[in-house]
Amino acid sequence: MKQIILDTSKVYDFIPEKQIFNQAKAAESANLTLENGSGKGSDFLGWVHLPSSLTEDALSETQETADMLRAECDVIIVIGIGGSYLGARAVIDALLGSFDNLSNKKPLIVYAGHQIGEDYLHELSVFLKGKSFGIINISKSGTTTEPALAFRLLRIQLENAIGIAGAQKRIVAITDRARGALRTLATQEGYKTFVIPDDVGGRFSVLTPVGLLPIAVAGINVRQLVAGALEMEKSTGAAVPFTQNPAEIYAAVRNELYKQGKKIEILTNFNSKLHYVAEWWKQLFGESEGKENKGIFNAAVDFTTDLHSMGQWIQEGERTIFETVLSVAQSRYHVEVSKDEANLDGLNYLAGKRVDYINKMAELGTQQAHIAGGVPNIRIEIPELNEYYLGQLLYFFERACGISGYLLEVNPFDQPGVEAYKKNMFALLGKPVN
Ligand code: PA5
Repeated sequence: MKQIILDTSKVYDFIPEKQIFNQAKAAESANLTLENGSGKGSDFLGWVHLPSSLTEDALSETQETADMLRAECDVIIVIGIGGSYLGARAVIDALLGSFDNLSNKKPLIVYAGHQIGEDYLHELSVFLKGKSFGIINISKSGTTTEPALAFRLLRIQLENAIGIAGAQKRIVAITDRARGALRTLATQEGYKTFVIPDDVGGRFSVLTPVGLLPIAVAGINVRQLVAGALEMEKSTGAAVPFTQNPAEIYAAVRNELYKQGKKIEILTNFNSKLHYVAEWWKQLFGESEGKENKGIFNAAVDFTTDLHSMGQWIQEGERTIFETVLSVAQSRYHVEVSKDEANLDGLNYLAGKRVDYINKMAELGTQQAHIAGGVPNIRIEIPELNEYYLGQLLYFFERACGISGYLLEVNPFDQPGVEAYKKNMFALLGKPVN
C-alpha cells in the first residue's frame, strides 16, 4: 500500500535544510514524550495508540448501530460541535459524492449543534417534518450549550412525531462514561450510548465512536479508515528516526518557520472535498497550540476558488505566512475537455486533456508563484481520496500536532481559553450557578 507523502523541499529556499535537521533531537524527544506519557497533558494521550488498540468488538458494535440507523432512518442528524463534530464531517464530506445530499441517497446526513442559529434550527425543523429521522448526539462533557440546545428541540420534535418509545430507538448518545447532563438524560431515557474514553480529548477523537459512528452511518468503511491510521501510527512512532518520520519532520519544519516570523500557516487544497478536513485541521492545531500568547495562526483556503479572493493576499500581502498544500494524486473519475469546432471560448488548446491535469498545472503554477512571492511551501500528497489514505492523513496530523505542541512547550491537550466566552455568555443568560 502507498502512503501519503510529505514534501518539505520547497521550504529549504527559505530555511536551510540543515537548520531543520538541527531540530531532529528536539522533535524525536517530543515524540518520545508523547509515547511515554511524560509530558504536559499526559492524561489525554489515549489517542496515540487508538488505531492499534481498537478492538473488533468495538468496531462491530459501531457498525451494527450504524446499520440499524441506516435501516430505520432517511435522515440522520449528527449533533455536536468542535471535536465532537469536525472529524466526522471531514471524512464524510471528503468521501461522499458532492451531490449525494441533494439526491435521493439514504440516509441523508445533516448537522446541528455546531452553532447557535435560530433560522438554521427552524429551517431544519421544517425540513424534517414528515421525514423518518434519527439523531446521533455527541458531547464529551455532556453540557455544551450549542449541542444541548439543538438536541432539546430535535428530541422533542422526534418524540412528538413518533412517540417517546419510537424516538428512544432512533437516538444514540456518545458521551462520557459517567459525567454530564447527556449521560444522565441518556440513562434516564434508555438511549443506546457509546463512551468517549476519558483520556481522549474532543479534537483527537475522530477514531472513537465520535467520528466512527456518523462515518459508518454515511456508508463509509470505518475499518479501512482505522487501517490507514494504524499504518501511520507505525510510521510516526517514536522509534522511527527523524529522517523517516513525517510527523516529526512536519512539526520541526512548522516550528522552525514560526521562529523565523512565519506566524500564519495556510492549509490549501486543490480539491474542494477536503474543505472540512481543513476545518478539522484548523481546530486540531489552533486549539492545541494557541495559548500562553504563542502559536501559529491556522487558516485554510480552497483552491483554485480562493485564488480569486485570498490569492491576492497570499501573493503580495504581509510576508508572515507559509503554505501547506493538500494535493490528491489521482482523481476518482476521468473527465476530458472535448473539442469544439467553433472554439469560441478559445479552449481547444486543452482539448483531449483531463480536467485533473489542468488542476495539477494550476497547482504547480500556484506553487511557483507563491514561492517566488516569498511563501514557503509544504506539500502533502494523498495518493487518492479513500478511507485508507484519509485515515493516514488524520493520524499524521494528530501525531504532528502533539509533537509540535511539545516543541512549542505548551500543553497541546487543554483549551482553557475556550471558557472565556462561555463564562460571559452564561452570566448574560442568567445560568444558575450549581
Ligand atoms: O477539542 C475539544 O475538546 C473541543 O473542541 C470540544 O470537542 C468541543 O468544545 C465540544 O465539547 P463537548 O464534546 O464536551 O460538547
